[in-house]
Amino acid sequence: MSSDGVDIGRRRFLTGATTVVGAVGVAFAAVPFVASFQPSERAKAIGAPVEEDISKLEPGQMTTVKWRGKPVWIVRRTEEQLASLVAVEDKLRDPDSEVAQQPAYAQNPHRSIKPEYLILVGICTHLGCAPTYRPDVAPDDLGPQWKGGFFCPCHGSRFDMAGRVYARVPAPTNLEVPPYKYLSDSRIIIGVDQDAA
Ligand code: FES
Repeated sequence: MSSDGVDIGRRRFLTGATTVVGAVGVAFAAVPFVASFQPSERAKAIGAPVEEDISKLEPGQMTTVKWRGKPVWIVRRTEEQLASLVAVEDKLRDPDSEVAQQPAYAQNPHRSIKPEYLILVGICTHLGCAPTYRPDVAPDDLGPQWKGGFFCPCHGSRFDMAGRVYARVPAPTNLEVPPYKYLSDSRIIIGVDQDAA
């Protein structure tokens, strides 16, 4: 009689208990598995946005910060350097920055949010060498036409003071502008878009 009922009841209980233990066991087992997909603290630090105080930069000076393992240049351009952008336009491959090498807010003649400050990834778009900042006008090695910019010593690519590539050099595109925004007049953050919330 009731022994059947009891047995069934016990069986139900035991079955239910086993299922619960089983689910808990799976949950515990899944934690390390899921955790292995999370980026490590070090990886997160490498990929994280980078803040920089730009208030100490003198006109014409450049500083370099590291973002995602890449060098990012911050240049405070002088009036003369800004004027040179117009003077070299007809010698450039992509003067209007039509190739998507910059966020939309940097697709303008100075390739930046504020004309004075230029932010660029300091990696040559040919084969990845490190171009050098050459603000000097008409130096012997770069010739009388040189108005200042960036020169890649590996194969001779030239870029103007907005990182726009000259025609007839190996680099195919302008230097890359990373995402960035101003936190205040003196601080920028690299790796976060200007329009992001
Ligand atoms: S890597 Fe810069 S010119 Fe070739």
